[in-house]
Amino acid sequence: MTQTATYRVGSNIAFIKYWGVADATINIPLNNSISMTLADAYTTTTVTWDVDGRLATDEVTVDGERFAPKKAQRVVDHLDRLRAVAGVNYRAQVTSANNFPMASGIASSASGFAALTVAGCAALGLDLDPTRLSAIARRGSGSASRSLFGGFVEWEQGHDDVTSVAHQLYTEDHWDLRDIVAVISSEEKKVSSAGGHLLALTSPLAEGRRDHVDGWLAEVRRAITERDIARLGPIIELDALAMHSVMMTSNPSLLYWQPGTLTILHAVQHWREDDGLQAYFTIDAGPNVHLICEADTAAEVETRLAQLPGIERVIVSQAGPGPMRIFEDQT
Ligand code: PMV
Repeated sequence: MTQTATYRVGSNIAFIKYWGVADATINIPLNNSISMTLADAYTTTTVTWDVDGRLATDEVTVDGERFAPKKAQRVVDHLDRLRAVAGVNYRAQVTSANNFPMASGIASSASGFAALTVAGCAALGLDLDPTRLSAIARRGSGSASRSLFGGFVEWEQGHDDVTSVAHQLYTEDHWDLRDIVAVISSEEKKVSSAGGHLLALTSPLAEGRRDHVDGWLAEVRRAITERDIARLGPIIELDALAMHSVMMTSNPSLLYWQPGTLTILHAVQHWREDDGLQAYFTIDAGPNVHLICEADTAAEVETRLAQLPGIERVIVSQAGPGPMRIFEDQT
């Protein structure tokens, strides 16, 4: 039996967001979400199962830092899920590295838990299809369910552990979009998305977003099918603003934005109104802004971002493939 496996998995940026859980124990979301898997922001994870019983505990190292037990707990909980699927009780050594800063506004939990799932299962010799792997990854982090697939991906809300899974809408070469992340703060956020999902339903606006989201999902599917940025853009902005309105009005309130966030939102609106530049924003659970545009607009967006104050760095990614196994001579 193979005991070790390494996978590289791209993170993803949601066009219609996952925010709020109907069932927190298995991460059943309040609505479907649609994302683009990223080629240039990925996590590479090696899982080695200790079949000989040498390890006293699971060992977790992320970006060179050996996690203390408390910090490692979420990974250990996920290893428990993999052990349960395989019916084994081996401990594991997990080594994971992101090619982007963890608090950059790119979801390391999406690529991280997807990579942990595929590498861990492969190392156990489990031959599971991507749909099943998506269900398992969802339990680690909801957005990880989408990183099991490349290109453009929809996670179906579903109603239980089997039906709440992602599937591919189109492969990565369907549409050459760019995600340009303007990092205005790489400080770690005070409330994690895992904590935030539990608060969503305390907002009086959560029901309102839910009432509209099916229509927005249909619009986004159609925009992707037709490769129509002028149709996609306004809807992704609307949903990002709706999600942040829910966050801001939850109890306690989650206000992830900083002054620099707003500076970019206003700038992008002006670039469109004054110069017809087709770039649109979306924002995850943090202050950093993702600008979505077609490939031929990306250089202009980057040039303009460089002229704005308060941006720490810019990370650009195109659409990417699903999980890739890496063999030793490639690492
Ligand atoms: O998978 P989580 O629990 O990190 O939640 C992700 C939440 C958002 O990034 C804000 C939205 C999304 O759909 O990715």
